[in-house]
Amino acid sequence: MAEESESESTSGLAFVKFAASGKNRFVTGIAALAALGGFLFGYDTGIIGQALPHIQQQFHPSTFASSWIVAAILIGAMVGAAGAGYLSEAISRKWTKCLSGCVYVAGALAAAFAQDVMWLIAARFVLGLAVGTASFVAPEYIAEQTPPKIRGGTVTYNQLMVTLGILLAYIAGFLLNTVTYDWRWMLGIAVVPGAALAISMVFVPHSPRWLVKKGRVDEARKVLERTRSDSDIDAELENIQDVSEKESNWKVRDLFRAKVRPLILIGIGLAVFQQFVGVNTVIYFASTILHYTGASQDSAVLLAVYVGVTNFVMTIVAILIMDWVGRRWLLLTGTAILCVALIVLGAYFQFSSLSHGASWLGLVCVIVYIIGFAIGLGPVFWLMISEIYPLQFRSQAMAVATIFNWGANFLVAYFFLQETQAIGRGPTFWIYAGIAIVAIAFFWFKVPETKNRPLEDIEREVGGEELAQAVGED
Ligand code: BGC
Repeated sequence: MAEESESESTSGLAFVKFAASGKNRFVTGIAALAALGGFLFGYDTGIIGQALPHIQQQFHPSTFASSWIVAAILIGAMVGAAGAGYLSEAISRKWTKCLSGCVYVAGALAAAFAQDVMWLIAARFVLGLAVGTASFVAPEYIAEQTPPKIRGGTVTYNQLMVTLGILLAYIAGFLLNTVTYDWRWMLGIAVVPGAALAISMVFVPHSPRWLVKKGRVDEARKVLERTRSDSDIDAELENIQDVSEKESNWKVRDLFRAKVRPLILIGIGLAVFQQFVGVNTVIYFASTILHYTGASQDSAVLLAVYVGVTNFVMTIVAILIMDWVGRRWLLLTGTAILCVALIVLGAYFQFSSLSHGASWLGLVCVIVYIIGFAIGLGPVFWLMISEIYPLQFRSQAMAVATIFNWGANFLVAYFFLQETQAIGRGPTFWIYAGIAIVAIAFFWFKVPETKNRPLEDIEREVGGEELAQAVGED
């Protein structure tokens, strides 16, 4: 078995060296292409907050319709994730991603040419279908392609592209406010990464694990020969086959069995906590929150760009250290950091003695918050759900976690402004802080360490074979 010891885990510099050497260059290249899916996700969820005021000037939608222009993508993403759970098994990870690029192009064109509010909402729903699909099939595909030693960093490329998409959306928003740009361009330009994803997926190889599952073992061997330089291909293939055969009696309905539930709960827990700590109130309403802290509307839009840059840069840090310090450490530390930032931010809004003349404190809290998220829950949720599920139901289980993630995202984003009006800004952020504390306890007791281990090994630890046996005996 291609097992590596803990001591061999990859430090930041070692990650770069290993990722850039020999055949690993090829595998990190295809991971980067697959991560374009993350860019679509980040850009489209980030751009709408910037474009909305300009759309409102043209179409004059009601408040209700405006919130649906923002939220339609989140609902679409839930539906897209459900469909992708089936498609990535049936037609492969690779072709599902290609399809999501095509749907995305159609959605971006439809949004750019929208003639009325209903049209725009429908286009945003179609974009959501693509975004929901890409959001988990990208990490799944990358996790199945890369060697264990650099899997954490390479799967996190996807999150890096999410943050790059958000950052570019903020910059576009800044330009929209300073130069007169048409919002149609801002929505339409997304055709470019969508087409890039669709085209590049034609040229990448299938996931070797999907191939084995479909009985195409010779093709899987060929893929491994192209993507592995320092490991024993026969041993790795045997390991994948072994696990795949033992679990071949799985059916989708087995997802709901009592024995599988704890694993499904870990994914759902990570998904819901990732959203319920309030990250997208910061991402979607960054300039609104910074405006609350006393910055003028214009400078708040610029300060939001700083938040985007911090998110992006700290995700690079996460890539470099993920395979070195491990997922659990980053998850726990990152969530503790953002929790402290939320407590102080809540106090800042609650006690006027703190906010008077100290608008910098509000900005510092938002920046510290995003640092905590970018090294912890941001990347680790998507990474973990690509690692902890047995091959036989990986796509379906990832789809379930992803649906919960987009659903929770919808709830937080939809109710944030109403919540601040009903109970005040301070208590709103304290609620998120309370949730972060519960999240830390959940991660501490429930989430396993998956650093530097073959997926099949993790599968054995979480009980994949035992579960398969139990299903067989029923
Ligand atoms: C989350 C998104 C969030 C983004 C921010 C992702 O991991 O799923 O909801 O907007 O991180 O960087």
